Amino acid sequence: MKINGKAYHSIWLHPENKQIVQIIDQRFLPHQFIIKDLKSVADAAFAIKEMLVRGAPLIGATAAYGMYFATLEIDSLEGIDTHLKNAAQQLLATRPTAINLQWALKRQSQAIANSATLEGKRATALQTAQDICSEDVEICRQIGLHGLPLIEAISKQKKGAAVNILTHCNAGWIATVDWGTATSPIYQAHNKGIEVHVWVDETRPRNQGARLTAWELGEHGIPHTVIVDNVGGHLMQHGMVDLCIVGTDRTTYTGDVANKIGTYLKALAAKDNAVPFYVALPSTTIDWEIQDGFTIPIEQRNSQEVTHIQGLHQTEIAQVQLTPNNSPAANYAFDVTPARLVTALITERGICEASEAGIAKLFPQKQLTSPQI
Ligand code: MRU
Repeated sequence: MKINGKAYHSIWLHPENKQIVQIIDQRFLPHQFIIKDLKSVADAAFAIKEMLVRGAPLIGATAAYGMYFATLEIDSLEGIDTHLKNAAQQLLATRPTAINLQWALKRQSQAIANSATLEGKRATALQTAQDICSEDVEICRQIGLHGLPLIEAISKQKKGAAVNILTHCNAGWIATVDWGTATSPIYQAHNKGIEVHVWVDETRPRNQGARLTAWELGEHGIPHTVIVDNVGGHLMQHGMVDLCIVGTDRTTYTGDVANKIGTYLKALAAKDNAVPFYVALPSTTIDWEIQDGFTIPIEQRNSQEVTHIQGLHQTEIAQVQLTPNNSPAANYAFDVTPARLVTALITERGICEASEAGIAKLFPQKQLTSPQI
């Protein structure tokens, strides 16, 4: 997608130095556009943990490059297995909920193990990270093409009046490598000339909606309105939301969906108001081992993200305190929306029911066991 008219991915290999990976530091968007170099496993782990990069597919892509750095950080085959295992563990420990992290590390670890020489391992790791990125672009594009008819149908029913779509957090192109998951059908619809308008949940505490989704939609010229997290239910009661589309960090093979905290409440409100509630996801976000969504690990982050808020003060990014000095705060980063509240899943292979049977129909070859890191 474009920033100031220039096409970007959210992560890329430095054009002049193959040992450096570049990312957009998302902590400072939309106020400052900072490109950051990653050069080591520690850099990649820091970028994921501190959310310079975030969003399940981009977390996976960054971890894949992290394993590439691990192959650069050792100069002989002696002890390489332990070295790579430690790197994978370091990256895995950064964020617990998004399954794409595990998925990318497993894929990289297997690929690297298949090469016998150090040079071979390095080349394989780089190629695998690049493949993960380019596959993600195509997967997300396909999600958009499969989701497009849903928006098109509502547009027809409304005789071309704007289709109002509510989204939560940022499942946009900067949460993936390009296109996004929840936003991909929206970009496709807009590009086709269908009138859309997006209600953007601010998504406290880190405000990924207000800061990131609003920014990327704005850069692409898509009409949108930022709302505080409590507004969605009211809008749905008044017929002001035609459909919801959200992303996910981990979806069980039975269709339960873990996504940014507050998603569940939107799904409840959507159910109560007969508003379709779609979850857009690449198959890399499906957990083929977990049956019950309530066993998905839910990240708890630093309480300072709740007690303080970040914004632009004059020309500087600043933090202000919201709460009394001694009030404890809890910061649950994700919640689980049970499959029964999900109208359907939008994947790269098409749309399916959020159920074991629905998912298995689209992905029949998937195994319920996957190799260890
Ligand atoms: O904590 P974040 O910002 O990484 O959470 C991101 C989300 O919840 C997204 O909805 C999800 O990762 C899907 S990204 C296409």
